[in-house]
This record gives sequence, C-alpha cells and structure tokens, in this order.
Amino acid sequence: MENQLLTLFAQRRSVRAYTDEPIPEESLKAILQAGLLSPSGRGLRPWELVIVRDRRTLDRLAECRDGAAQMLKGASCAVVVLGDSEKTDVWTEDCSNVMMNMHLMASALGVGSCWIQGRLRTAGGVSTEEIVQEILGFPEHLKLEAILSLGMPAAQPEARSLDELPEEKLHWEKF
Ligand SMILES: Cc1cc2nc3c(=O)[nH]c(=O)nc-3n(C[C@H](O)[C@H](O)[C@H](O)COP(=O)(O)O)c2cc1C
Repeated sequence: MENQLLTLFAQRRSVRAYTDEPIPEESLKAILQAGLLSPSGRGLRPWELVIVRDRRTLDRLAECRDGAAQMLKGASCAVVVLGDSEKTDVWTEDCSNVMMNMHLMASALGVGSCWIQGRLRTAGGVSTEEIVQEILGFPEHLKLEAILSLGMPAAQPEARSLDELPEEKLHWEKF
C-alpha cells in the first residue's frame, strides 16, 4: 500500500513563483489550523500568527531581507510566525513546528509556499525583526521566527525521489 504521508513529504517543495489567483479561503483556513495543531514544549503554544493579505503590506514585507523575501511581491498571503520568548526557551523549536505544519498542509492542498527566515537575519544592516515589527506593530516580548509566503503555484518544482535520499546521513547505533 502506498504511504500517502511519505509521498506528500516527497512532493513538498519550496514554491516562490505564484499566479494572480488568490488562495481559496478553505485552504487558508486548513493551513492555519495545521499550524495551530503543532506540538510545543510543555504544550505552551508560545506562538502568535499574523496573517497578511493586504497588497501594500506584502510588498513592504518583501523588503525585510536582502533578496530572500522577494517572492512576497507575488504572493497572495503571508503568515508571520512570532514566538513569545518570555513563555519558554524553546520558542524557536515550537515556532518551527508551526511553520513546517503550515508548509506541508499548503503543499497537500496544492498551494505554493516558502519559508522566509526572519530570526537572525537582516536587510540593509537592520534586523529583519525590527523591520517586520515596524510594519506589523507587534509587542516587544514577541520575537520574529519566520514568514510563510503563500500563493497558487505558477510552476510546481519536481517531487524528490525516495531513491536519491542521502542515506549517508543515517548513523545506525553509533556515529
Ligand atoms: C530554516 C529555513 C530557512 C529558509 N529561509 C529561506 C529564505 O529566507 N528564503 C527562501 O527563499 N527560502 C528559504 N528557505 C527554503 C529553502 O531554501 C529550501 O527549503 C531548500 O532550498 C530546499 O528546497 P525545497 O524546500 O524545495 O526542498 C528556508 C528553509 C528553511 C527550512
């Protein structure tokens, strides 16, 4: 029997080019639900999600990195994932789970998406977090993890082949 989840993982790719078609409301809802279903340390759910669909705001967010966020100019939506660093010291891991769950759900629904790194990144010498904070106005105790761009794919990158996985990364019993 086919392993549907493994097939989905193999098909998941970063999609950076989108059509003008908006993503269906139902798909966005499911993507956000997938994020909210993520596991977190001690079940604290230290995340906050800002959903951006305003064209002007998306265009401004595209400048939060030196080049690496330009796909937001063509995206119909972005989900900005913030973590509460006062709630837990594993907020980065928790927020990564949210990013990954949403990225995978998007792929499963035929919506293109790409992880845009926010934490530890800059644009023009200014921290990406500061730039995004200025645009979205979130409180100080929240830290920027990443942004997920979303749009209907203009092209679908090829699925990965299970035969070409880097098996040398696996170390059995001892390194
Ligand atoms: C932690 C992390 C940070 C990433 N940051 C960016 C980014 O800032 N901009 C971007 O275009 N892609 C970014 N990506 C996407 C990767 O470049 C992509 O996952 C990788 O090249 C493998 O391609 P694939 O996702 O199609 O398998 C990021 C992915 C991860 C997991």
